[in-house]
Amino acid sequence: MIEKLNKIKEEALDEITKCMDEASINNARSKYLGKKSEFTQVMSEMGSLSNDEKKEVGKVSNEVREAINNALDNKLKEIKLEELNKRLEKDKIDITLPSNKRVPGTKHPLTIVREEIEDLFISMGYDVVDGPEVDSDENCFEKLNLPRSHPARDAQDSFYITDDMLLRPHTSSMQVRYMTSMEEKHPFKMICPGKTYRRDDDDATHSHEFSQVEGLVVGENISLSDLKGTLETLARRLFGRDREIRFRASYFPFTEPSYEVDVSCFNCGQKGCGICKGTGWIEILGCGMVHPNVLENCGFDHTKYQGFAFGVGIERVASLKYGVTNMRDYFTNDYRFLHNFNRKEM
Ligand code: PHE
Repeated sequence: MIEKLNKIKEEALDEITKCMDEASINNARSKYLGKKSEFTQVMSEMGSLSNDEKKEVGKVSNEVREAINNALDNKLKEIKLEELNKRLEKDKIDITLPSNKRVPGTKHPLTIVREEIEDLFISMGYDVVDGPEVDSDENCFEKLNLPRSHPARDAQDSFYITDDMLLRPHTSSMQVRYMTSMEEKHPFKMICPGKTYRRDDDDATHSHEFSQVEGLVVGENISLSDLKGTLETLARRLFGRDREIRFRASYFPFTEPSYEVDVSCFNCGQKGCGICKGTGWIEILGCGMVHPNVLENCGFDHTKYQGFAFGVGIERVASLKYGVTNMRDYFTNDYRFLHNFNRKEM
């Protein structure tokens, strides 16, 4: 019997080494140790043995069972490990592949300039206010002292929605809204950045949509020198500390006197270049002292209060600062153009 048992062990161990998968291990287990196995058969014959023989055979049978079980378990572990390795090999992730990196957006150049202007005026104690892009004829023109006959009130020049409502052609409509909405009139300083619309044919230097920053200061004893100092500060903030400004007489119905303001050319040191068209000066904005009629139309006593106002075009400033030659670039959202600004924030 001992011989038989050892033979079973040998056969089993040999077969186990050849097992390739879990199923063949299970088969081998039932073949060599199962109910119908030769091993069980031999064990059932033990009853006919003497006690001493039983002891001896029992010992060997235990060893054989253990050896077979161990071999089966070890082989099964080996097979599972191999399967795992194969799977890992197959599912391997290549960590050197570039990831789906999302490039964060950048600020639009018009936003950069608008915020620069806002920051400056906030630091000087101004309110920054927002207003509707659709406004009434009254706010856009009438209360700003523009006569009915003024060409800007012509449907040729502005986008009218109804007879009385239009896309605002300038942010000056916010002068009216701000002053009329003030219940108790008192001195104030405000700027209003925002979009504006005119019936221009779009080309490299014109757009039917553009943006401005309106500025309005009302108080007692406000004079032209306050306006000059304020605009000099603005020009130097935008174009450099060494800039000078000059006032040229102009005309706006809502300011009197009115001026166009030029800044000394930042490009050529006023020797004359393409940017300043050889003159050494670049026009940047319109301004003036608030017309008494406008103050009165908005409920301010013009014998007590004076004010100054200005309107600066954001596209114009941005184009000068960044050398943008085609205004359409601001509106077509071409990433190749937009990502050139503020790259340090990427
Ligand atoms: N509203 C004027 C324009 O759009 C600019 C301006 C604003 C002029 C305020 C004087 C005072 O051209």
